[in-house]
Amino acid sequence: MKFFIDTADINEIKQAHDLGLIDGVTTNPSLIAKTGKPFKTVAKEILKIVDGPISLEVIATESSQMIKEARTLAKIHKNVVPKIPLTLEGLKAVQVLSSEGININQTLCFSATQALLCAKAGAAYVSPFIGRLDDISSDGMKLIEDIVTIYKNYQFKTQVLVASIRHPLHVSGAAKLGAHVATMPFKVIMQLVKHPLTDLGLNQFLNDWKNVPKNKIS
Ligand code: E4P
Repeated sequence: MKFFIDTADINEIKQAHDLGLIDGVTTNPSLIAKTGKPFKTVAKEILKIVDGPISLEVIATESSQMIKEARTLAKIHKNVVPKIPLTLEGLKAVQVLSSEGININQTLCFSATQALLCAKAGAAYVSPFIGRLDDISSDGMKLIEDIVTIYKNYQFKTQVLVASIRHPLHVSGAAKLGAHVATMPFKVIMQLVKHPLTDLGLNQFLNDWKNVPKNKIS
């Protein structure tokens, strides 16, 4: 399972990268806006740090404009994966771009039928937003189960990129279902390693070690 970081914050990306914990990055217009920096500046900074798929979202909503924008994004760097919303116009754009060999991450997926259409259009990734489904009392993880089953049934190559992850249970749940990628905020990446019993156990070991008789240095 690949781990992507879902942020445009350069410090967080650097930290996660230096820890060797991430394989790629996903951004969206809201995350870019939070940085207060111009889009291309942020994109170039990210591309310098991480050598893996970097999702950058198009702003256009009409297919021919989406195609134009996505082609421009793809030309920035081989690692750029243009992100296109899962609308009818988005599906038209994905069909064209995929046939040109451009890897697309189709985003804002909230149903199994949307994911099926996205795979048929040839997207490299589908991004189901599970946290936002949970937020409205729908079962986000059930959507992942449905998509993984459908893709297996027809051997679709589209990778399931689980997005809108809120906590470690989302990550382990997605991993149990065999999702290809989990994209998560820096905070969740840090939570993955933490366990109070690990900290308690380590403290106890180090304290007990103080009681071990020391050999004399010869
Ligand atoms: C994914 O690509 C999106 O950027 C992201 O996961 C959305 O998450 P949110 O629902 O926490 O905004």
